[in-house]
Amino acid sequence: MSQQCHAPFISLEGIDGAGKSTHVPAIYRWIGEQGFKWIHTREPGGTPLGEQLRTLVLNTPMQAETEALMMFAARAEHIHQVILPALKRGDWVVSDRFSDASVAYQGGGRELGVSKVEALESWTHPGLQPDLTLLFDLSPEIAAQRLQSGRGDRDRFELEQTTFFDRVRAAYLQRAQQFPERFLVLDAAQSPERVWIRIEEVLEILKKRSVQA
Ligand code: TYD
Repeated sequence: MSQQCHAPFISLEGIDGAGKSTHVPAIYRWIGEQGFKWIHTREPGGTPLGEQLRTLVLNTPMQAETEALMMFAARAEHIHQVILPALKRGDWVVSDRFSDASVAYQGGGRELGVSKVEALESWTHPGLQPDLTLLFDLSPEIAAQRLQSGRGDRDRFELEQTTFFDRVRAAYLQRAQQFPERFLVLDAAQSPERVWIRIEEVLEILKKRSVQA
């Protein structure tokens, strides 16, 4: 009997302050414990050029269209230099954000509209989407409180108003409804322990699916 392995591609999404980063160490610890290799990467960024674009896009005022195009420019590099080679090697890929973030932030938050972002998606990465997208869903009011209690300078997105994040959140939830087969919507208002229980359940399912007899 031959074994076919398909390493999964996992993305983490949510509004700023929803707490996705809290769960990253537990996710890769879990993947490692199962005996799989993994990479942890992020968007915008993940490559030398992508990280330069990240610095620009997070800090420089620009048109919404410019912002969307820069996200996809960074993404094109990320896909070809990092994501696809890792999946080809059989490594699990965990990315802090992928193109659902562009749909939510540029399409929803910046009000460019979903269809323009979808056009960029189908141009940049036709046929490539995560196998699992963990959406950390939280009300913008609670997320803002969490951001305030954190330290460090805030970037252009973190400085946005609650109404911006209302639109981002709505676009994420809409996207989750559109692609229920890959989205897991997590109530990020719960304790990290409770959120982790749901994540672990779905990672188990993904593991079984990734190794087909
Ligand atoms: P984030 O992932 O929150 O990183 P950190 O946790 O280090 O602050 O920061 C990336 C920001 O970029 C976040 O505010 C969302 C935004 N973003 C977009 O607007 N569109 C995109 O396509 C991506 C990938 C990110």
